[in-house]
Amino acid sequence: MRVLVTGGAGFIGANFVHQTVRERPDAEVTVLDALTYAGDRASLADIEDKITFVEGNITDAALVDDLASKADQIVHFAAESHNDNSLKDPSPFIQTNLVGTYTLLEAVRKHGVKFHHISTDEVYGDLELDDPAKFTPDTPYNPSSPYSSTKAGSDLLVRAWVRSFGIEATLSNCSNNYGPYQHVEKFIPRQVTNLIDGIKPRLYGAGENVRDWIHVEDHNSAVWTIIDKGRSGETYLIGANGEKNNLEVVQTLLEIFGFDKNDFEHVKDRPGHDMRYAIDNTKLRTELGWEPKYTDFSTGLQATVDWYKANEAWWRPAKEATEAKYAAAGH
Ligand code: NAD
Ligand code: TYD
Repeated sequence: MRVLVTGGAGFIGANFVHQTVRERPDAEVTVLDALTYAGDRASLADIEDKITFVEGNITDAALVDDLASKADQIVHFAAESHNDNSLKDPSPFIQTNLVGTYTLLEAVRKHGVKFHHISTDEVYGDLELDDPAKFTPDTPYNPSSPYSSTKAGSDLLVRAWVRSFGIEATLSNCSNNYGPYQHVEKFIPRQVTNLIDGIKPRLYGAGENVRDWIHVEDHNSAVWTIIDKGRSGETYLIGANGEKNNLEVVQTLLEIFGFDKNDFEHVKDRPGHDMRYAIDNTKLRTELGWEPKYTDFSTGLQATVDWYKANEAWWRPAKEATEAKYAAAGH
């Protein structure tokens, strides 16, 4: 199978490429990545000779057309992915998440290549803390931020191209990922690298917001399960029953580092901050037989801390500028 992975130099995409090279020797992998601030070729350094890397933009119709003509399956991870950035400047989110997805869909339509669209549970908006409900594939879309609204728009484009043009596509909406190669702007790597540097973790607001954490390896094994066994036009929700509030995450990290559990700081909250996300993964488990492997959050977190400790050369170059951006925003 010739697989074109967009955004393969980003966090989840790079882990997907590693997993694919490791577990699918028959797959010929091409990565298309624009190497924005969030993309890093170093994330693929140890497998460079096993893949083809193309530096380019998913909004470049000629390039996308050429690459799609040589692929059997596209897995579309490329996106602007950080809520805080989208609140400062939504424009790259419109370009990449909407125009970029549209550009890919047109090439998919022309060449009859299969498409898997990677999306987020944030398209559903948020849940109340005391609500027993979780997101299901039938939950109405209600996104809050420029990030989640452009992801929602991209999902709807994919669904429309399935219905109107008969392309073969599957979709997945996953909860918050953690693991190796995640940019230091994101919550968990920011706190882990702060703790390595002796800086206190920073909690937005009271720290009550809940995210449904899943290890990136589990996300990616679910993506392969959907590509292998999913039905075209269907949406699958990916989650591993990992609900934790931000305070709990910070305190688990403080414990891993052996620090006092109150050694953190509250900082300015995010405007429009979604309160809680939670995934009902019944469809994925019962229809496709997928199960997560990382069922104990603190074990997965310990492994992630170990990875950041062992790979300082990977994250250090982005740390100072990221913290300067947060300091300017009061976070
Ligand atoms: P990331 O920001 O770490 O990586 C994004 C990658 O896309 C980078 O390598 C970047 O260079 C590349 N890219 C950005 N714009 C591009 C463009 N115009 N053309 C080509 N390449 C471009 O993101 P991530 O956290 O790995 O997320 C990957 C996907 O998974 C996204 O679609 C995101 O919405 C989705 N998702 C993420 C999470 C999460 O917790 N991180 C959860 C659910 C879904
Ligand atoms: P983030 O990693 O940005 O993911 P998302 O916004 O997609 O959920 O943030 C996860 C949670 O952590 C979110 O509730 C915001 C919060 N947060 C902090 O408390 N402190 C921080 O320094 C950051 C970056 C995020």
